[in-house]
Amino acid sequence: MNIAVFLGGTSAEREVSLASGKAVVGALREAGHTVTAVDPALGARQPEHEADLYREILHDAPPTQEALSKLSPRNLIECVNSPLLDGIDVVFLALHGEWGEDGKIQSLLEMRGVKYTASGVMSSALTMDKSMTKILMRHNGIATGKWEMVRRGDRVDAVLIERVAAEIGFPLVVKPNDQGSTVGLTIVQNPLQIPNAIALAARFSTSVMLEEFIPGRELTVAIVGDRVLPVIEIKPKDGFYDYQHKYTKGMTEYICPADLPADLTERIQRDSKIVFDRTQCKGFARVDFRLRDDNEYFCLEINTLPGMTATSLVPKAAAAAGIPFPELCDTIVKLV
Ligand SMILES: Nc1ncnc2c1ncn2[C@@H]1O[C@H](COP(=O)(O)OP(=O)(O)O)[C@@H](O)[C@H]1O
Ligand SMILES: [Mg+2]
Repeated sequence: MNIAVFLGGTSAEREVSLASGKAVVGALREAGHTVTAVDPALGARQPEHEADLYREILHDAPPTQEALSKLSPRNLIECVNSPLLDGIDVVFLALHGEWGEDGKIQSLLEMRGVKYTASGVMSSALTMDKSMTKILMRHNGIATGKWEMVRRGDRVDAVLIERVAAEIGFPLVVKPNDQGSTVGLTIVQNPLQIPNAIALAARFSTSVMLEEFIPGRELTVAIVGDRVLPVIEIKPKDGFYDYQHKYTKGMTEYICPADLPADLTERIQRDSKIVFDRTQCKGFARVDFRLRDDNEYFCLEINTLPGMTATSLVPKAAAAAGIPFPELCDTIVKLV
């Protein structure tokens, strides 16, 4: 097939996406497809040499908002509407975060009449919103931590802090409602830290989530088509699973299949599939959990366009299930 891989984009996860995209391009070529790499953040004019697209790949911190502000989302419209997509059978979306994972580029592609991988417009938009996703989890009997929402610009006064302290307690997690890669997230130990944590998260999103901190282990489950892949346990070597631990080699240990009792594995996998189905995800996605020492687990979120470097979580789980990376990418294309 003639495939365009969309990579880069205009979100805080731009560099991660370049790495995902580069890996996917290689894998799809290995699987026998004709592949063009396209960074929609650059509009209709792409660099002459593909290698130039990959220059910004992965530093140990996300790009600054100043650097990102130079990339206009209007370029995405121009790109999708350009001859770059003439004769393309499928766009493989290797984008992450805002404009790429949130249903917006999916919507442009639908208007242009080009097929694309993974979830559709509604599902992408819904799951980008962590709070909406948690409402759906609750509705479907999936355990998820207590939470409260604050809008950017809301007064963070004693009343709010007392309410949060009473309803959630400490420690708690403050995070942007619609970002990825642990950007803008703070673990708050006491009421005094709440205002700054909210201010930080509000730099990345108009809505901020305050969520019960779930101590214990970190798990994630990939789903590809109808298959729920083996559970992965994520063990950051120190601290927690932040941007650096996610993308710096050696800072995190991954265990797949996770060492868990069989019935617990089964329940977590079943619940992952429920979250996938009820949020109407398609193709593939990855569901994040926290597991307490008493083996109670809580779902954090579902990612519709998770990382896709050869060593990312979904490819790891696929490898554990005997699916090599090129086959995984090819399967995702065939699920369109
Ligand atoms: N309620 C929570 N309790 C404990 N850890 C959390 C909680 N929320 C987030 N974290 C930590 O922060 C990481 C990122 O949070 P997550 O909600 O998955 O957002 P994203 O991956 O989109 O940045 C998680 O993988 C986990 O390590
Ligand atoms: Mg996550």
